[in-house]
Amino acid sequence: MTGQKIIAERFRAKFGVNPHVYRAPGRVNLIGEHTDYNDGFVMPAAIGFYCWVAAGPRQDRKLVVSSEEFPEHGEMELSSRLPQPSHTWSDYSVGVAAQLEKAGFRLSGANLLVHGEVPIGAGLSSSASIEVATALALAEESGLSIDRPHLARICQQAENEFVGMRCGIMDQFISLHGRANHALMLDCRSLKFELVPIPESVRLVICNTGVKHTLAGGEYNRRREECEEAVRSLAKALPNIRALRDVSREQLEEHRRLLSEVLYKRAKHIVTENERVLNSVKALRAGDLHRFGEYMAESHVSLRDLFEVSCAELDLMVELANRQPGVYGARMTGGGFGGATINLVDAEHATAFAETVAKGYQKETGIAAAVYICMPADGASLVETPEMAG
Ligand code: GLA
Repeated sequence: MTGQKIIAERFRAKFGVNPHVYRAPGRVNLIGEHTDYNDGFVMPAAIGFYCWVAAGPRQDRKLVVSSEEFPEHGEMELSSRLPQPSHTWSDYSVGVAAQLEKAGFRLSGANLLVHGEVPIGAGLSSSASIEVATALALAEESGLSIDRPHLARICQQAENEFVGMRCGIMDQFISLHGRANHALMLDCRSLKFELVPIPESVRLVICNTGVKHTLAGGEYNRRREECEEAVRSLAKALPNIRALRDVSREQLEEHRRLLSEVLYKRAKHIVTENERVLNSVKALRAGDLHRFGEYMAESHVSLRDLFEVSCAELDLMVELANRQPGVYGARMTGGGFGGATINLVDAEHATAFAETVAKGYQKETGIAAAVYICMPADGASLVETPEMAG
């Protein structure tokens, strides 16, 4: 049964009415890591794993969010003070509702039932998929028309302010703007984007290490602070900069003495990663997959040695990938400290690649890795329930 049918049936069983069903995908990032909160460039693609949200109206001004996968449910009185986080999964949904109300949108009472299929802890943005599916459901059910970049911003703010993770805008933006068979190159400052076709001859192969180190959240916020500190220090010599996005490689070298060794390394990753994203778009448009793969490899080394967000399991997965025939490039993807790698692999080699890498990884670590062979998917939408289709 598809996610859509599962969620619609569960909703009917629970509330006795036919719901509207919304879905929002997870994502994988091809290149441009930790650049989003530095006003830089990223190149993610949506993937065919979704969070499904079934929604129906309530008579009172209350929002009730539940899921059959988790015991806790979330509630919010829409006419009273904004709620406090409950530190459970429902914060992703309730946070979005709170942020919408805070932004002046008046929501209608609703029951939401959530069913998530994006693997959790794999660095594939299961959290953004809940936020985006919720945001779309709440906006539509309340008859509000909110443009998608604005919705992405609201979801990001929910995660920053309600959940306490200071993420950038990449995950929410791609979940709303993904296009089948395309990657999206986003300028995270202007929110202008370009869709770049992914050739049919390749597959995006995602290898989940199966580990998520507990330091992920804290270290993520720390990296963001380090980047902000680097900007403050460099601004003494470069008063016009607002973010590491504004610093060139030459300027960074010239003013290196203003930074500690750690801050220099962090800044160097961001400055070079932004260059790599821009060069990768050119390579992809020119059909030069080998070049694209080289940028992916450089990105991994930079994340490992300069930004220091990789881990032994990710490095091993990349090493195993690099030994396989048909692979153009391999790197860690997402925030790091576990989660998954992204591999650009020739379509004909993809199945053998997946099997061999998983086997090699299991041999070295004892962990059975999940491997997904994907192509980019479409972004979030309202889906027709069988009843709507007649
Ligand atoms: C997480 C965050 C994103 C981004 C990536 C790293 O996925 O949610 O905003 O910063 O890490 O590129």
